[in-house]
Amino acid sequence: MTSIISTQTTYADIQSIVADDFAIMDEQVFGSLNSKVQLVMSVSQHVINAGGKRMRPLITLLCSRMLNDAPSEAAMHLAAITEMLHTATLVHDDVIDESGLRRGKPTANATWNNATAVLVGDYLIARAFNLLVGFGSLPLLKLFSDGTCDIAEGEVLQLQHQHNPSATEADYLRIIDGKTSRLFMMATQGAAILQEQPQYLEALSDFGQHFGNAFQIIDDILDYSGDSETMGKNLGDDLAEGKPTLPTIKALELLKDTDKQSFDKLRIAVQTGKTDQADKLIELVRRSGSLDYCRSRALSETELAQNALAKLPDNRYRDGLYQLTELATARLV
Ligand code: IPE
Ligand code: IPE
Ligand code: MG
Ligand code: MG
Repeated sequence: MTSIISTQTTYADIQSIVADDFAIMDEQVFGSLNSKVQLVMSVSQHVINAGGKRMRPLITLLCSRMLNDAPSEAAMHLAAITEMLHTATLVHDDVIDESGLRRGKPTANATWNNATAVLVGDYLIARAFNLLVGFGSLPLLKLFSDGTCDIAEGEVLQLQHQHNPSATEADYLRIIDGKTSRLFMMATQGAAILQEQPQYLEALSDFGQHFGNAFQIIDDILDYSGDSETMGKNLGDDLAEGKPTLPTIKALELLKDTDKQSFDKLRIAVQTGKTDQADKLIELVRRSGSLDYCRSRALSETELAQNALAKLPDNRYRDGLYQLTELATARLV
């Protein structure tokens, strides 16, 4: 399969392929919150009501239908749980990253405080597992518990590399494999477990992993080149936090032998997380040619994801997954 960058398909078009399933899943995301503690409800609802694309559950629904084209209550339920876990990771992530804006709204940590956000994030993870137990499936529990450990480890690894200007592309890939791609893999493989089609686990895992990698690389590019309003979160945060994401890692590599002065500036910025020259530093990363490299990496990850799709049943749900990868890369143009 080859990658076509420009596309007319919208996200809503892809959602509409599984419109009924999606609507039920979305209801369940809200309906699954049932804490006795009002503050838990208020904080969870604040984040969940703020929107979000619901992309991971959409992936589960498309994968489930791709393997077996019948309405699956279990798939809708699992998709809702996946979104709950995703929401929890965002609530925690915004504490770690000291972010103020998420899904176009003030974050939980900014609206309440860090302690509240951490505890409600914990609650959401616990509630997700509480619901997962209901499936009575050990393979599913194993997939989700291993995956959740990997997500946490990815975030901790990233924290360890904060202010480390010597972080490498391999370090970065390890981080994003945990913090982002793992959840995509849970979203895809969960469907194969539910549909009892283990022969597709490997292809689904490859699809989830490479699509997750592409998605995060694109997100990190947009932190340097995007627009805050469209993204619903503040941009330029990565550098301000001294986070060596791929755009910075590659920029440092490119500048090292060509522009020592800029190299030193950027290196110090990562080390110190200095913000007073943010605009200049962002410009420096852009001019280094690093973003072009990141785009080509994102495109090759997309292509690998699309190659994995070729090993899965050929139907309109698979086309939907393909279009989703195209749409993600279209954010680059
Ligand atoms: C945000 O994910 C976290 C990343 C992996 C970059 P999304 O961009 O899917 O966030 P929502 O769910 O739509 O808010
Ligand atoms: C997103 O990571 C959170 C997880 C993947 C767990 P980032 O910190 O890179 O993404 P944004 O920019 O806050 O969405
Ligand atoms: Mg963040
Ligand atoms: Mg983060």
